[in-house]
Amino acid sequence: MTVVEIRPGLRLYKTALDRAAQESLRDQVREILRAVPLFQPVMPRTGKPFSVRMSNCGPLGWVSDRAGYRYQPDHPDTGQAWPPIPETLLRLWRDLAAYAKAPDACLINYYDATAKMGAHQDIDEQDFNAPILSVSLGDSCRFRFGGDTRGGSTQSLILESGDVLIFGGPARKMFHGVDRILPKTSTLLDPPGRINLTLRRAR
Ligand code: SIN
Ligand code: FE2
Repeated sequence: MTVVEIRPGLRLYKTALDRAAQESLRDQVREILRAVPLFQPVMPRTGKPFSVRMSNCGPLGWVSDRAGYRYQPDHPDTGQAWPPIPETLLRLWRDLAAYAKAPDACLINYYDATAKMGAHQDIDEQDFNAPILSVSLGDSCRFRFGGDTRGGSTQSLILESGDVLIFGGPARKMFHGVDRILPKTSTLLDPPGRINLTLRRAR
């Protein structure tokens, strides 16, 4: 594992998870998704569907529907409580996040070959002292990030399977999104695509 400090508060750990660890985490995520299947989030007010589908694990999960964005303890379609966060992810947080309290939310995003995510800030959490820890599995993506205001200059980087990105401190409220998935760059997932897991401290 090599770590790159991209800018203050923004660190990239290349291949934080080796192939065996990625396979094990993939299998645990598959198990989670059996209990709490991917749901189709839509934009507040307009109801426009995201191209990404989502689920969660941990005490709280992030959801978006016509009523707005929020954290809640259960699946929006089935009412099922979110399953616990896998130990592999809790260990990554302990080792890399440098934050005393454990994460209480983990968003699971699934991108098929054409999915993307528009620029946004992660600001629905109550505790901005905790960083966001993001784990990538499967196909690579082009991840774009900028400053704390929309429309400023941006940079991009490629996130590959097994990479961990942490944004905290002065980078905690940076705008970020996913321009595109790079299909056929990984054999980890079947069906192919990309899974991104983000650990947060919602409350
Ligand atoms: C997100 O910001 O929720 C997802 C970022 C990613 O997929 O890398
Ligand atoms: Fe985000």
